[in-house]
Amino acid sequence: MDVQPSTSGSAAASPPVAARGIVVLTAAVAALGGLLFGYDTSVISGAMLFLRTDFHLTDVQLEFAVGIALAGALVGAALAGVCADRWGRRVTLLGTGIGFGIFAVLSGLAPGLITFVIARFFVGVCIGVASLVTPLYLAEMSPARIRGALVSLNQLAITIGIAVAYFVDYALAASQNWRWMFITAVFPAIVLILGMIFLPESPRWLARAGFRERALAGFHRLGRGAEAEAELEDVERVLQEEQEGFGILLQPGFRIAVFIGIGLAIFQQITGINTIIYYSPEILRMSGYPSAKAAILAAGIIGVVNILVTVVSIFLVDRLGRRFLLLLGTAGMAVALTLVGLAFHSQAAGKVVFYEVIGYIFFFGIGLGPVVWLLISEIYPTKIRGKAMSLATLTVWGANWVVAGTFLSLIHAAGPAGTFWIFAVTCVLAFVFCFAFVPETKGRSLEDIERNWRHFGEKPAR
Ligand code: BGC
Repeated sequence: MDVQPSTSGSAAASPPVAARGIVVLTAAVAALGGLLFGYDTSVISGAMLFLRTDFHLTDVQLEFAVGIALAGALVGAALAGVCADRWGRRVTLLGTGIGFGIFAVLSGLAPGLITFVIARFFVGVCIGVASLVTPLYLAEMSPARIRGALVSLNQLAITIGIAVAYFVDYALAASQNWRWMFITAVFPAIVLILGMIFLPESPRWLARAGFRERALAGFHRLGRGAEAEAELEDVERVLQEEQEGFGILLQPGFRIAVFIGIGLAIFQQITGINTIIYYSPEILRMSGYPSAKAAILAAGIIGVVNILVTVVSIFLVDRLGRRFLLLLGTAGMAVALTLVGLAFHSQAAGKVVFYEVIGYIFFFGIGLGPVVWLLISEIYPTKIRGKAMSLATLTVWGANWVVAGTFLSLIHAAGPAGTFWIFAVTCVLAFVFCFAFVPETKGRSLEDIERNWRHFGEKPAR
C-alpha cells in the first residue's frame, strides 16, 4: 500500500538557508510542547517519596496522586483535536504553554493533596493536548522533504524532557525539594509561550479556515519562495474535495488510515516502552543489580541512549523512510526482549539485562518512538486532521495507562521472563502490522498522501 509518487506539491527545490533556519527554529520552539510532555510525565517518579512523607499519604492516595496526570492526558487528548481544528494549531499550543506554566507552579506550591491532585490533573490535560498538537503543527508547517526530521524533533524533545526530569529529580533529592521539581517546568513553558506568540499559524489550517492571504504569507514566511502559490493551490484543491465532519473517515481509504493510526498507537505502547521508562530501576534491581543507586544511574544512562538514538532516527527518517525504520525497530525490539526474558530465565547477571535493555531502547528510538507520532500527523485529511489525531492519541494514552498499570501484576503472574517474552510477542505482532498496513509517506506532500487514500482500492495495492 505505498503512497504513490506524484509530482504535485511535494519535494520542492531546497529552500534558501535563512528560510530553512526559520523552519527549524519554528520546529525547535514548537517541540518544547514535547519537552514538557516528557518532563511532566517523568518528574513525578523522583518526587513520589517526598510527597508521601510531606502529605502523609497512604499507598492508595499516593497511587492516585501519581496516576492523576495520566487521566488528565486522556481528557486532553480527547479535547485537543477539536480545539486545534476550531481555534488553530498556534493558539492551541499557546494556551497549552500557559496551562503548563500555571499548573507547574500550582502543583509545586500545593498546600495539600487536593490542590496537588487538581493541579496535576490539569498538567495532564496539557500533556494530552501537547502530545497531539505539537506533531500536528510540525507536520503542517514542514516542507515534505524534511517533514520526517522536523516532526521527529517532537520525539527528541520528549526524550530530552524525560532525561532532564530525571536529572532535576536527582539534583533536588538531596535537599528533598520536591516543590522545585514541579516548578522547574515553568521555564520551558515560558519559552513556549513567547515562541508561540511570534511563530506563524499553520498555513494549512489558515487555508482551511478561509484566510487565503495569510496562508500564502505563511508559506512565504516558511521559505517556500516561488513554490508558495503552487503549494497553497494544491492544499486548496484537496480541501475542496474534502467533506466536513467525521463522515470522511468512513470512506474506504480513510477508514484504513484510521485503522492504521489506532493500530500504531496501540503497538507503540503494548510493546512495553513505558515499563522501561517508568520502572527500569526496579527491573534492574530484579535482575540482581547490586544497589538502588547503581540501578538509578543505569536508568539515567538508558534515558541518554534514548535521546541519542532519536537523533540517529531524525537523520534517517527522510532518507530510509518510515516503513524501514518501523520494521527494523520492531524486529530489533523483539530480539532484545527475547534476550531480556532469557537472561531472567537463566538468572544471568544484571549487567546482561542492562545491555539488552539498552538494545531495546535503541530499536524503540529508531522506529516506534518517533515514527508513530510522525505517521499519525501525516496520514489524515487536513479538514479533520485534529479530530482524527485525537482518536489515535487517546489510544496512545489509554494503552499507556493499561500497560503501566498492569506491569507489576503481570510480573507477579508471569514472572519477569514470561512478562518480557509476552512483550516480545507484541513486537512481532507490531512488525507484522507495520509490514502489512503502514504506507510509505517519505517525501510526499500531505496532499499527495491524502489523494492516495481517496483513491485507495482503485489501483492495485503494493
Ligand atoms: C511515547 C511515550 C514514551 C516515550 C519514551 C513516546 O513516543 O509516546 O509513551 O514514554 O516515547 O521516549
